[in-house]
Amino acid sequence: MIDLRSDTVTKPSAAMREAMLNAAVGDDVFGEDPTVNSLEARVAELFGHEAGLYCPSGTMTNQIAINIHTRPGDEIICDEGAHIYRYEGGGTMATSGCSVKFVPSDHGRFTAEHVEAAINDTGAHWLARTRLVNIENTCNRGGGAVWSLTEVDRIRTVCNSHGLAMHMDGARIFNALAVTKETPSEWGKRFDTISICLSKGLGAPVGSILVGNKALLANARRVRKRLGGGMRQAGLLAAAGHFALDHHVDRLVDDHERAKKLGNAIADLPYVDHVMPVETNIIIFTLAGGRMAAPLLSELKEAGINAAAFGPDMIRMVLHLDVNDADVDRTIAVLRKVQ
Ligand SMILES: Cc1ncc(COP(=O)(O)O)c(C=O)c1O
Repeated sequence: MIDLRSDTVTKPSAAMREAMLNAAVGDDVFGEDPTVNSLEARVAELFGHEAGLYCPSGTMTNQIAINIHTRPGDEIICDEGAHIYRYEGGGTMATSGCSVKFVPSDHGRFTAEHVEAAINDTGAHWLARTRLVNIENTCNRGGGAVWSLTEVDRIRTVCNSHGLAMHMDGARIFNALAVTKETPSEWGKRFDTISICLSKGLGAPVGSILVGNKALLANARRVRKRLGGGMRQAGLLAAAGHFALDHHVDRLVDDHERAKKLGNAIADLPYVDHVMPVETNIIIFTLAGGRMAAPLLSELKEAGINAAAFGPDMIRMVLHLDVNDADVDRTIAVLRKVQ
């Protein structure tokens, strides 16, 4: 089966498992796990931040970030496709008591003008207090679209003048950096906090790191414990994160090339209406002529290709380290055979 549902489906390689087996460990709730400590310090330094916090998932790093930046009743500005709103079990509302305000976007990317227009007047006590801007890079529902630093800087200026914090859901930040060739620290310094996932394109089985300044991260550590995310000998898992950073960052460009090839082939299929621009490892397309995603997905599955429905007539395919050139060719051949 060629599994294109998500880049989260990768299985740890033998070498990654070996690194996990050999990890030095300790009790991380006591701050004594050397592998977790070195991974947190490594990622924080990479992104130019003071501190890092290792968490089981990107959902947890995002939700902790929201919790430490806000008070119940506050409002968060984001895109309507944002993971923090759509796919985190209502955590933004349930865990932190925040509402969200959507701004118009181009494949998940919005502008400083849209942010400025969405900020509630602080003098109007009947409105929620706007507190945080969430930027997702790359934008999952935007087809893996990549943000520009220029727009982020303009948004930062607006946030500074209104006292708003900025969080980046950087679940796929390394995919974005592989395209723009910017450094992690160039991105890091623009944000108060960033979630960096190790279990997407980087291929670790588990893990996301939240980075920020020491004071914010001390609070984040408390919230992680409160949410049940304090793990003990987590170095076994963190070792996979180190391995992923050592071996799986430079290869992301291969996923991007394969995604472009597959995206171009999909655009030529008679039953496809529209393919979102393929910028990284995600391909999202809509079907033509009232065709629905579910029956097509079943047909593909029977032919050994697994993809995900992203709407009634919308399909997502994601390239990752367990999909090679031959798999892409086979996928294209199967897609061409479907009538
Ligand atoms: C953009 C984005 N943010 C956050 C997450 C959450 O990551 P996790 O599945 O580790 O909770 C995902 C998961 O796919 C994602 O696509």
